[in-house]
Amino acid sequence: MCRDCAPFPGVLPTTGPSAGEPPAGEPSPLPSRRTFTRFLAAGAGLTALAACTPATTEASLTSPAVSQAGVATGSPSPTPSTAATPTATDPASATSAAPPPSPVPSPVSPAAALAQQHSLTDPASPWLVVNKHRPLATPEYAPSDLVQPNVPLAVSGEASLLNSTTAAAAEQLFAAAAAEGVSITLASGYRSYATQVATYGSYVSSQGQAQADTASARPGYSEHQTGWAFDIGDGGGACGFQPCFAEQPAAVWAKAQAHRFGFVIRYPWMFHEITGYYYESWHLRYIGIEAASDMAKRGIATLEEYFGLEAAPAYL
Ligand code: DAL
Ligand code: ZN
Repeated sequence: MCRDCAPFPGVLPTTGPSAGEPPAGEPSPLPSRRTFTRFLAAGAGLTALAACTPATTEASLTSPAVSQAGVATGSPSPTPSTAATPTATDPASATSAAPPPSPVPSPVSPAAALAQQHSLTDPASPWLVVNKHRPLATPEYAPSDLVQPNVPLAVSGEASLLNSTTAAAAEQLFAAAAAEGVSITLASGYRSYATQVATYGSYVSSQGQAQADTASARPGYSEHQTGWAFDIGDGGGACGFQPCFAEQPAAVWAKAQAHRFGFVIRYPWMFHEITGYYYESWHLRYIGIEAASDMAKRGIATLEEYFGLEAAPAYL
């Protein structure tokens, strides 16, 4: 079962006119307070389904940071995000839902570039940006260096693996959290393309593709397939993969401290019109300490904004 791909498992916004949600096939709007309250009310006790569908196309990568030769070299945006990080960290506490403006792709700025740059398209690069507009160039890609990190595990087998760089950073993060009295578990790590085909198919069967796409990545579009991302659980076991996880000690700590170890919260609250996914307070993505700290310092919430890429609210 793929648990993290449904941030609000089983309670995705409907397309019915009475709920004020979008027409079928259109990108979801920012959820209203009532909608999120519904998520929260319905989320507990529902089965989270897995993620991810078939990504069969070649990567169509148009980042301004991608060279004509197709060798993408990423550079961070020289300007801070114009989409201010929302103050509300809990969906239930939001009183309005002003949509964050779409990021304006920024040209490469050597002045702002970090010392070490990486590809935005190579799945082995820590700066890979995969989203609904940017499938993996090789849909069935699998990392060659998967290892099991020495951290408290809430899963076994494939899901307990990460690529070696992420695993080493995760060990540092988990150890630091523990030293500060916060117990974190690894709840879901690597997922193969085949796993995602099966889990996403199950999700579509039960919820329909439109709703599945709102909450989960298709196979070939998931960071989990790269080994650069993993989901955390709280040592207390509460609210796994549910909106209320944001209030658990593990999530609170990770949100404040993850950048120190090279991680970002990849799908932040209220940025789903940019990232394509609702808030996943449990989903950490490794991009390196320098870049993650730079994002935190400059208040840039998403990789799309940081690297000057277009928003990706829905599949092309
Ligand atoms: N839940 C994230 C978007 C994934 O499926 O990779
Ligand atoms: Zn995840």
